[in-house]
Amino acid sequence: MELKNAVAVITGGASGIGEAVAKSLAARGVRVVIGDMDVKGLERVAGEITAAGGQVAWTRCNVTSDDEVATLMDLAIEKFGQLNICVASAGIIKDGLMISTDKETGKVRKAMTTEQFKAVVDVNLVGSFITIREAAIRMVNNGYQGLLVPISSVNKAGQTGQLNYSSTKAAIALWPKIIIGEFQMRGIKNIRCVAIAPGYVGTPMVRGMNQEALAGILQGVHIGRLIEPEEIADLIAYAAQNEAIDATCLEITGGLIANGLAK
Ligand SMILES: NC(=O)c1ccc[n+]([C@@H]2O[C@H](COP(=O)([O-])OP(=O)(O)OC[C@H]3O[C@@H](n4cnc5c(N)ncnc54)[C@H](O)[C@@H]3O)[C@@H](O)[C@H]2O)c1
Repeated sequence: MELKNAVAVITGGASGIGEAVAKSLAARGVRVVIGDMDVKGLERVAGEITAAGGQVAWTRCNVTSDDEVATLMDLAIEKFGQLNICVASAGIIKDGLMISTDKETGKVRKAMTTEQFKAVVDVNLVGSFITIREAAIRMVNNGYQGLLVPISSVNKAGQTGQLNYSSTKAAIALWPKIIIGEFQMRGIKNIRCVAIAPGYVGTPMVRGMNQEALAGILQGVHIGRLIEPEEIADLIAYAAQNEAIDATCLEITGGLIANGLAK
């Protein structure tokens, strides 16, 4: 795909990986549309993209809402005339053990609530589904050349303390093969799907972690540091330009060989 003048929609575009992807694609000539719940963040990122000479539009969007996601996708077409890249980066964590036992009595004193589990599934899994579906509908109906990018994470071993989060990310790692299987059945050749599975990325969420826990995690990372959000953005830009990358989930972990155990 030619990046210059392509149009990308990025959810979670007000922070972290979504912000880096939006800025990086805009710097490469892509016209970007960002959606997020954080309006102040959207204004800031859009202002910075414009100041750097990029083209950007934004709207507040909760990815769990069919209507709001549809509006976000339509904004791309109204404003920039097409829709080629969709990065579903909106995501949340609500960490905790499934059951926490009391050190003295050995009895369960706290458990992950159903709400805590469902909230993460709702944003990370259902929200990504709505995002990718709404983009795919418009790409197919208008014949746009497209790339769908759902965001997974460490998805094989999972992460202790993240039963809710890891469940969503393991599922998303499967999506490219399932979605491209559908497209293959129906002869849809113009749209690719590539998931990205980052390891530990230096976004505000991770940098704000307990520093001791973070140091423990980095011991299991071969390059010995957090991945920069810009490095994730570079991989997405590369995948967009290389048609041979399709129906797969690309890991970018800095050589993560073990998961730090939650303390
Ligand atoms: N940071 C990491 O180490 C890491 C690693 C692997 C995968 N990921 C994944 O990458 C994605 C981005 O993570 P990040 O680190 O940039 O996080 P972040 O918190 O910096 O950004 C996430 C953005 O999503 C937005 N958001 C949350 N709920 C939303 C909703 N319902 N609708 C719309 N927007 C919503 C937030 O407002 C925020 O701006 C997530 O899916 C995350 O799971 C992150």
